[in-house]
Amino acid sequence: MRIIEDPAELAAPDLAQCGFVPTMGALHDGHGSLVRRAAADGRPVIVSIFVNPTQFGPNEDYARYPRTLESDCALLEPLGVAGVFVPSVEAIYPEGLEASRAVAAALPLPQVATEPRLEDACRPGHFGGVALVVGRLFDMVRPSAAYFGEKDFQQLRLIEDMVDAERARFGALRVVPCTTIRERDGLAMSSRNRYLKAEERDAALALSRALQVAHSAQRVETAERLMRDTLDAFGLETEYAVVRDSRTLLPVRGFERPTRALIAARLGSTRLIDNAAMTIWR
Ligand code: PAF
Repeated sequence: MRIIEDPAELAAPDLAQCGFVPTMGALHDGHGSLVRRAAADGRPVIVSIFVNPTQFGPNEDYARYPRTLESDCALLEPLGVAGVFVPSVEAIYPEGLEASRAVAAALPLPQVATEPRLEDACRPGHFGGVALVVGRLFDMVRPSAAYFGEKDFQQLRLIEDMVDAERARFGALRVVPCTTIRERDGLAMSSRNRYLKAEERDAALALSRALQVAHSAQRVETAERLMRDTLDAFGLETEYAVVRDSRTLLPVRGFERPTRALIAARLGSTRLIDNAAMTIWR
């Protein structure tokens, strides 16, 4: 497994037509499952590890985000990864961080990243930073397929629409959605779960429980109320707990089309998100 710092090394012929898994490190089995999925498609797999400053707001956790390169590589090595791309901030943002933040803020984004008032409203500027870094990583890695977890569902939809809107730039790149991986008790795997104090770990189950109870509802408003009540009961502060159209992420009145339940909630100083398909549309 090669550790690649210099983007020029990505041009090596054995890395061409790769499957690409972009990450911010602090890897867990959710990332492992993306890598296994990519490997199953039979191409060389490149994983990038880059804690992207432009997608964090000024009061967010950029500084304390876990940086665990050694254990990340230990997780990736047995999975047959061909290369781990660990670019410097300068390699990704040669114009300097301040200028790159301005570029991110000015990027035209697909509606799914600006209209739903979900992560876009709670984390202003976040998706500009995500779109900027992912676009630049794609330009450097030139993958045939890129793998994203459904855990960050609005991010996944943004990348799908961004790639479709810029086919001339990204060619035939395929964006492959991958199912959320959960702990045995239902907690969605996340690098931010490391922030949870022992006594918060049980309360964090509120998100997956809320998604489960929403399934029993026959009406959208009932599903949303049940989710909020569950989060309240576990002592979490709800940012949103909604049922939306799975494609546009805009509000829906009923379950006529595929819908998705999406949650963001705070537990102490940790912000958690989760989502699930509502299977009861008819
Ligand atoms: O999902 C993530 O880990 C990040 O948002 C990504 C896609 C690697 C961009 O920094």
